[in-house]
Amino acid sequence: MKDRYILAVESSCDETSVAVLKNDHDILSNIIASQVESHKRFGGVVPEVASRHHVEVVTTCFEDAMTEAGIEASDLDAVAVTYGPGLVGALLVGMAAAKAFAWANRLPLIPVNHMAGHLMAARQVKELTYPLMALLVSGGHTELVYVTEPGDYKIIGETRDDAVGEAYDKVGRVMGLTYPAGREIDELAHKGQDVYDFPRAMIKEDNLEFSFSGLKSAFINLHHNASQKGESLSNEDLSASFQAAVLDILMAKTKKALEKYPVATLVVAGGVAANQGLRERLADEITEAEVIIPPLRLCGDNAGMIALAAAVEYDKGNFAALDLNAKPSLAFDSVE
Ligand code: KG4
Ligand code: ZN
Repeated sequence: MKDRYILAVESSCDETSVAVLKNDHDILSNIIASQVESHKRFGGVVPEVASRHHVEVVTTCFEDAMTEAGIEASDLDAVAVTYGPGLVGALLVGMAAAKAFAWANRLPLIPVNHMAGHLMAARQVKELTYPLMALLVSGGHTELVYVTEPGDYKIIGETRDDAVGEAYDKVGRVMGLTYPAGREIDELAHKGQDVYDFPRAMIKEDNLEFSFSGLKSAFINLHHNASQKGESLSNEDLSASFQAAVLDILMAKTKKALEKYPVATLVVAGGVAANQGLRERLADEITEAEVIIPPLRLCGDNAGMIALAAAVEYDKGNFAALDLNAKPSLAFDSVE
């Protein structure tokens, strides 16, 4: 059978990325141009700055991805692109580039939901079996997703307020860490103790919802009160206490979801799935399902994961017309 090649583009936030996937699993190239250095001094992503960066590097990313993959445009079978959720200006840059490339080369366009990309990055570990459950934890999302078959995603629980990655970045800023702070907090947490006993919101409630804003406020108040008194707190203990609360919440709700929807596979994906503390607790505490976590290089935003999700859409014949618009608030349906 002829090989199938999909080129994928991702630009929903602060990474510009283009990847080439051969057949189902073989990522031939996955070029990622991160803008994180430009956003560090602002302590977060500045949408205008993000869009401008995408414009500057997107063409080079296309060229590098094709060169590294060692293929010609005429070898390609489709072009996939993230059309949401994300920053509208950022999404539009990747979409304009993907559409122009698809049109010029007479290739079909595959629309991909960024969160489906995070989830489907797990296909790089092994082919998934369905139904499965996913815990998606990123800078913008915290959700439990039930997947009955490839491409059919339903939200069964999500955060009422902050996303877990967002909470990491905010408390990191309070501790004077650089953006994004998740990884550094994870490292500090391993050197400290949970001495502050922060609140674990809704942990006992019989629902699949998350809330992190109370935890974030408790952290900020503790830090503020201490500095007003001239006391300095240890970033190690603060990180350990914060991370212990986050992980208790994530584990409790995931366990509850697995009770309600028993499945053989639990995928944990998104930027926060890089968290070592989370990986340790999943390994120790999830006995009811096989836990599949994408490799570290596919946890943060990248086009390789978009290509892996696109392969599923290709098989289902889900193509878009060239008037496809960006959907900044694109979300999976909720389970009724
Ligand atoms: O998925 P992602 O790359 O971008 C979004 O789609 O949001 O996730 C980025 C988020 C950031 O908030 C970052 O602080 C967090 O993932 N993150 C981590 C770790 N590595 C990245 N959070 C906790 N522990 C980590 N090791
Ligand atoms: Zn993401």
